[in-house]
Amino acid sequence: MLTLSGVGKSFGGTVALTDIDLTVETGKVHAFVGENGAGKSTLGKLIVGVHSLSEGRMEVDGTEVSFTSPAQALDHGLAGISQELSLMPQRTVLDNIALGREVMRGPFINARATRRGVEAVMERYAMHVDPDARVGDLPIVEQQKVEILRALSRDARLIVFDEPTARLPSDQVAPLLALVRSLADAGKAVIYVSHFLEEILEATDTVTILRNGRHIRTGPTANETHDSLVEGVTGSVLGEQYPEVAAPDRAAPPVISVTGLSRPGVFENVSFDIHPGEIVGLAGLVGSGRSEIARAILGADPSRGKITFNGREISGSIAARLAGGMAMIPENRREQGLMMGRPIVENVTLPHLSRFSGALGLDRRRERAAADAHCAATEMKYASLNDHADALSGGNQQKILFARTTLGDPALLIADEPTRGVDVGAKRSIYDLIAGLAKQGKAILLISSEIEEILGLSHRVLVVSRGRIAGELEGAALTETALMTAAFSGT
Ligand SMILES: Nc1ncnc2c1ncn2[C@@H]1O[C@H](COP(=O)(O)OP(=O)(O)OP(=O)(O)O)[C@@H](O)[C@H]1O
Ligand SMILES: [Mg+2]
Repeated sequence: MLTLSGVGKSFGGTVALTDIDLTVETGKVHAFVGENGAGKSTLGKLIVGVHSLSEGRMEVDGTEVSFTSPAQALDHGLAGISQELSLMPQRTVLDNIALGREVMRGPFINARATRRGVEAVMERYAMHVDPDARVGDLPIVEQQKVEILRALSRDARLIVFDEPTARLPSDQVAPLLALVRSLADAGKAVIYVSHFLEEILEATDTVTILRNGRHIRTGPTANETHDSLVEGVTGSVLGEQYPEVAAPDRAAPPVISVTGLSRPGVFENVSFDIHPGEIVGLAGLVGSGRSEIARAILGADPSRGKITFNGREISGSIAARLAGGMAMIPENRREQGLMMGRPIVENVTLPHLSRFSGALGLDRRRERAAADAHCAATEMKYASLNDHADALSGGNQQKILFARTTLGDPALLIADEPTRGVDVGAKRSIYDLIAGLAKQGKAILLISSEIEEILGLSHRVLVVSRGRIAGELEGAALTETALMTAAFSGT
């Protein structure tokens, strides 16, 4: 359906893609995989008209096309489901789907016919969302459906999904994959970008590997394995996935002690200690209260109970706790204050500037050296620290936040889903960073929906079920089965 030949894309001096030849077929789910910055999103955006080609040609059903806007691409049946959803949150589902496509009666909108049209599309693809709900009130999954319905109601024949599951709770992943499959079965061409190799292997038909803006190979997914994808993506065979973690110092007083922490209706009577050098995993199903417990420890939400940090009971504001040595890498990193139009260096050092100021003012050289070191440790890919954050790929933007957090030298690091959106090679770097902080005597609270990640890194795991600690596992007792059993115990 879609053919690219010799396609290239540059942004100023940055070459994002070179010499891409590719065919995308109707009725198939076609994956794009690659490291952060490999060019996946850029390729998707060329196809759906967000960017225009710097080189090469693109054909839809054998006819050459060139777009200067997403609207033009949509006229040819090409639509994108972006990661930053592009809906109007204050308007209804119906408005969002029908806007600009209302059925008219003379100069007037025929509301009833418009609604019938939208309902017919929902019916046809068995995708139902309350037409009168306000989009901003809906969970992400439903909002994604609205975006898909909007594309379908405009007769999209190819839909690009860019990391659609990165922001989804884990129990919503399977339904989304089923939806993607049903679109292909309905005769659509689907492009699917993801860092979750299991999703790629399970849910796609064809896979294209990109590396450094180049096309490495395209072939049937059935011919690939987890290891062959890793090798294709990174260009080398990956060693051990997890670093050795040193034993914690349990004789030393705990860095943090939480006693009887409660927030009515959310979690209850949560108590635990984390000792210097200890990585404690907080596991549990989505909605069990993991992130909420973390937010309460940080002072982002009110709670009852006692928190002792560095030997002192604390009750202050979030700002006071951050200044006192707590840090959090939050789950929703997109909303966590990246200054998109500012240089990387400022984004990394801004909250920590006092560390670089002396009698003579700000020591710019030390500031840059520190930013550089912390960025390098995340394997962030950038040309210069002066590049603006919005010139980086999505995964590399997340690494800016990671570097900012580690630069603060926190005594307690709360890492909520720290490797979301990060490629397979860089995951190991982030694990190394976490293990390294533990080795320096920091306390780590690790929240993750990836069980392997929790098992691979934690000294000890607390399993949360319905707002209570349903189990504490360590040593030989720390197994996937034990963890899942505890996670489901309260449900
Ligand atoms: N608007 C832009 N201005 C300048 N450079 C850009 C812009 N958008 C992307 N790039 C550059 O193009 C390259 C490819 O970025 P792209 O966003 O396509 O990567 P990606 O494969 O989607 O990565 P990720 O997995 O991190 O989302 C990167 O080097 C990035 O810095
Ligand atoms: Mg991307």
